[in-house]
Amino acid sequence: MCGIVGYIGNQKASSILVNGLLKLEYRGYDSAGLATIENGKIEVLKDKGRVKNLYELEKKNNLTGTVGIAHTRWATHGMPSKINSHPHTDETNSIAVVHNGIIENYIELKKFLEEKGYNLVSDTDTEVIPNLIHYFYTKETGNDKLKILRAVKNACDKLVGSFALEILSKDYPDNMIVVRKDSPLVIGKGFDEIYIASDIPAILSYTRDFYLLDNLEFAFLSRDSIKFYNNNLEKFQKEATSISWNAASSDKNGYEDYMLKEIYEQPTAIRETIGSRLDGENCNFYELNLDKKYLSSVNQIYIVACGTAMHAGLSVKPTIEKLCKIHTQVDIASEFRYKDPLIDQNTLCIFISQSGETADTIAALKLSKKKKATTIAVTNVIGSSITREADYSIYTHAGPEIAVASTKAYTSQIAMLTLLAIYFAETLDSASKDIIQTLKENLLELPSKIEETLETIDQIKDISKTMFKEKDVFYLGRGIDYATAEEACLKLKEISYIHSETYAAGELKHGTIALIEEGINVIGIITDSNLVKKTVSNIEEIITRGAKTTIVVSTTVSSMIDKSIFDNIIVVPDTSIFLSSIVTVVPLQLLAYYISKEKGLDVDKPRNLAKSVTVE
Ligand code: AGP
Repeated sequence: MCGIVGYIGNQKASSILVNGLLKLEYRGYDSAGLATIENGKIEVLKDKGRVKNLYELEKKNNLTGTVGIAHTRWATHGMPSKINSHPHTDETNSIAVVHNGIIENYIELKKFLEEKGYNLVSDTDTEVIPNLIHYFYTKETGNDKLKILRAVKNACDKLVGSFALEILSKDYPDNMIVVRKDSPLVIGKGFDEIYIASDIPAILSYTRDFYLLDNLEFAFLSRDSIKFYNNNLEKFQKEATSISWNAASSDKNGYEDYMLKEIYEQPTAIRETIGSRLDGENCNFYELNLDKKYLSSVNQIYIVACGTAMHAGLSVKPTIEKLCKIHTQVDIASEFRYKDPLIDQNTLCIFISQSGETADTIAALKLSKKKKATTIAVTNVIGSSITREADYSIYTHAGPEIAVASTKAYTSQIAMLTLLAIYFAETLDSASKDIIQTLKENLLELPSKIEETLETIDQIKDISKTMFKEKDVFYLGRGIDYATAEEACLKLKEISYIHSETYAAGELKHGTIALIEEGINVIGIITDSNLVKKTVSNIEEIITRGAKTTIVVSTTVSSMIDKSIFDNIIVVPDTSIFLSSIVTVVPLQLLAYYISKEKGLDVDKPRNLAKSVTVE
């Protein structure tokens, strides 16, 4: 799970590469490096630490080459160190490679190369790649232009695992080869220059026209041409995709951090998500060829995802069951894929993934297809790997999400899945017209409700000042509020490093209440007016034992409770219970954000985490 950037054109490559890496740092940030071709020689600059270290190195070394590759790393094999940083070269320094992914059989390949006399110096899986390419290159007898491409293809044939590769050869100083398998890579075309990156935002300021490589497709690049080859090295043509996002949507735009910007972008993101789905009478999903006959044959729905995306699934499960009357299960992708799930052609599987690159979610999708289930991917990234595997793909259109901690992707996933539930219910005629009409109206009101909720910011800042020194925080909720509490709790953990747990409110007395002692912080969410009394009495039980309590409640609920017993009450606007997560999560995203800021942490790049988890 790393970020890669490449450039081939007429400008100084090294500074373009460092700029691109800065935009990709969310993918990994324990070391960074680049290689350019200088007067027919490969020059490598690399070191452990953030991209800013590489930026300093680049300023000191006056590299003038106009062809180059670069990498920001999130270590999987070998500690972060200069020697383990990318680019890696073969021992003759004639081939340089950057790699995103994992080579599962690298030990076997390392042994093979060592037996052939190669001396590998790092602890990484990647280093076998330039050496393998070199090995096959020396076996080539021809002297044509494609000699290096054949060597790369022969090396790729030996690799087991996932890879997105950029390859430089000193014998081809004006070219670069790129190839991918199960790891993302995009090629952007400018005028007499080509940009390559792990994802679009890194190079969006240079071009809007992108080519998306499929698995085991190769591109042979010159500054003015891109030649595509399939895995048999037959040439083929590819259509470019034009992207409508602009560069500003992936910049910080005046906000201190991407996370804060993305929290504030939620009203717009939800508007985009709902977009043209709700025009006229019915909810539109024209891209889905799922008619009443098919939907009536579905006897279960599985929602499979990881982390925040899985929490979005937990929030919409009750909506789907209520509207569509189809039994719905939510599972963690890394569990689902190894448990031989009971699914068949009568199962509809929905996979949620912001990045569309999460390895476990993609593997779960492949398993479901093997078992004949129908598959739908819900993702934010156009052309991402998951969309190439699923029967149908639905885009959330939340815009680029850069901060590692997911915010706007989560709320737009819930909005999109609610729309999907409405579409299924309308097709099946399984819910009352009134319920559906009210839900549609509530969906359309969401952007202004989120805007209203964002006004709690000053109150949240004050609460964060009293909470940032805590060691443990507990979150409570019931029903959908419990699902939201899971997400709020994950936000706090990942960016503030405070230990936190979520419990279903009624479950406390079955054990957890033993952990409650004087002064401990408990955060409760209550939006369902039918359950207010139950949840409040659970919270009273912990107040009696000395807990400090903060509650997030809807306006209606706030009018039903005795406010004097709580330390903090955050009131959010009323909405449908099925959409309540989208509103109640907002102050809790802000709370996690400001606690992290109070602690002086790097909000956008929390330790040990990366934005897309492309490894198992
Ligand atoms: C969210 O804040 C997390 N960083 C993480 O749980 C994330 O949601 C998860 O890794 C799934 O990613 P995806 O949506 O890109 O598949």
